[in-house]
Amino acid sequence: MKKIKDIRKEIGKIKKEGKIIGFVPTMGYLHKGHISLIRKAKKQSDYVVVSIFVNPTQFGPEEDFERYPRDIKRDIEILKNEKVDLLFNPEVDEMYKEDFKTWVYVDEFSEIFEGKFRPGHFKGVCTVVLKLFNIIQPDKAYFGWKDAQQLIIIKKMVNDLNIPVKIIPCPTIREEDGLASSSRNVYLDERERSKALCLYRALKRIEQLVKKEKIYNREILLKEGRTIIEKEENVELQYLEMVKINDLKKVEKVEKGTIILGAIKIGKIRLIDNLLIKKF
Ligand code: PAJ
Repeated sequence: MKKIKDIRKEIGKIKKEGKIIGFVPTMGYLHKGHISLIRKAKKQSDYVVVSIFVNPTQFGPEEDFERYPRDIKRDIEILKNEKVDLLFNPEVDEMYKEDFKTWVYVDEFSEIFEGKFRPGHFKGVCTVVLKLFNIIQPDKAYFGWKDAQQLIIIKKMVNDLNIPVKIIPCPTIREEDGLASSSRNVYLDERERSKALCLYRALKRIEQLVKKEKIYNREILLKEGRTIIEKEENVELQYLEMVKINDLKKVEKVEKGTIILGAIKIGKIRLIDNLLIKKF
């Protein structure tokens, strides 16, 4: 369905039936990361809505909005196989009228890490996610840990604005070699793809140092991670940081709820990944 008024009608009916609505917002070009969110939503709700909308307001002027991979036919097949109840795939002018003026912005959290390299990105994400929540009115919404900062920011927005949606975090799904599944992985040629793995290797090395060697010190851990990435030619390390999961503040020592966030750039392609340090 492409029109908001049609969605409202349908959702109205479903709500009257007292069904629990689970919602998975995406930008399409679906892969097994998205599918894992959909399957979790299917398990935990009576009616599952997926949105596919490549949201222009979360892309910077120099970014890949135009060439972002799209294949709606293939996506619809996947959604049918997964027995998704409703697809919302609006056009840009359905979501943003010419006179659009209202933005949602989570202060501070949006300026760091991804926000530093992608100014305005999270303002676009929060605005579109809140619009989607208002259109779909889900009980639960599913977000991947793959985009950890996005997940944390959405949780903050929901909490701060008293939005009646339960945010359900879902684990990062990876390819066989460990690379986090991503729609943007199609940009990588074979050489770039093998280089891209250095970020995951760095994260795993840090995890190993924590778990096996009981090293908890920020400087030592990050230095070790950086060295692995910097060894790789033509890979630019944009950030590698150790933060607290609830407020994204840097931590000096690994503690409960510590997450390592990283971003690299290979040519024009930016890739992000992270690892939650669970036990140590
Ligand atoms: P998109 O990149 O399509 O991702 C949609 C959802 O799938 C997000 O919650 C993301 O974290 C999750 N996801 C992506 N790759 C994953 C993986 N390998 N494992 C687990 N989950 C994964 O994120 C967006 O779209 C947009 O910013 C959106 C929230 C839809 C707003 O426009």
